[in-house]
Amino acid sequence: MPQGKSGGKSGGISGGKTANISVGKFLTFEGGEGAGKSTQIKRLAAALETSGLEVTATREPGGSPGAETIRGLLLDPAAEWDAPTEALLHFAARADHYTTRISPALRAGNWVICDRFADSTRAYQGYGLGLPMAAIETLYEVALGDFIPDLTIILDVPVEVGMARMNARDGGPDRYEQMDFAFHERLRQGFLDIARREPARCAVIDADTDIDTVTERIFDCVSQRLGVTLSL
Ligand SMILES: Nc1ncnc2c1ncn2[C@@H]1O[C@H](COP(=O)(O)OP(=O)(O)O)[C@@H](O)[C@H]1O
Ligand SMILES: [Mg+2]
Repeated sequence: MPQGKSGGKSGGISGGKTANISVGKFLTFEGGEGAGKSTQIKRLAAALETSGLEVTATREPGGSPGAETIRGLLLDPAAEWDAPTEALLHFAARADHYTTRISPALRAGNWVICDRFADSTRAYQGYGLGLPMAAIETLYEVALGDFIPDLTIILDVPVEVGMARMNARDGGPDRYEQMDFAFHERLRQGFLDIARREPARCAVIDADTDIDTVTERIFDCVSQRLGVTLSL
């Protein structure tokens, strides 16, 4: 069951978004593009289901009808959102995703795996774009109160490795070449910093190796931290 920051009732402005009443587990996957999040979530979801658990796999931004509408705004190529607006939209989407999908699934006993969550806002809008972390934490409390993941798996790869994987997948060399290497390095260091600050919640997995080895590392981590037995 996810733990509130205070371990008790939500003190958040949102009121009542207390995690401790739920019975499922909430896992998030974080890391840059090409780290392997989507690939590994599919494998973990399948293994958890094989072990007899009900699994809800979801992703951000989006994951609920309202949040998907906001995702459309975020991804609109005609819009040039500044960092505060972007962070507000992400947390607006996240609040709806939590209320209408994540929380009901957890209450029903499901294990919920989310492809990106609040750490991506910390990394992109905070470490990447320079929005003050205190502002991001305020938005977090408004949107989610005390709710935090039971486990956040941060898949870590060197920036150039993630870029190469994305280029191979997309069949073209251009996609990442236009993007700023330094920005992606700030994201990577941001995720690592988040993990250092919250070691009880976060686990960094070295994902710079073959897919099966990364899966083994993730299964070991989930088994140790959350007390399930998973096999490849
Ligand atoms: N460990 C790995 N080694 C090599 N290629 C990988 C590995 N993990 C994922 N890939 C490939 O890299 C691409 C990006 O993986 P994906 O899971 O979509 O990453 P993300 O969701 O983190 O952006 C996909 O084509 C995937 O098949
Ligand atoms: Mg993905």
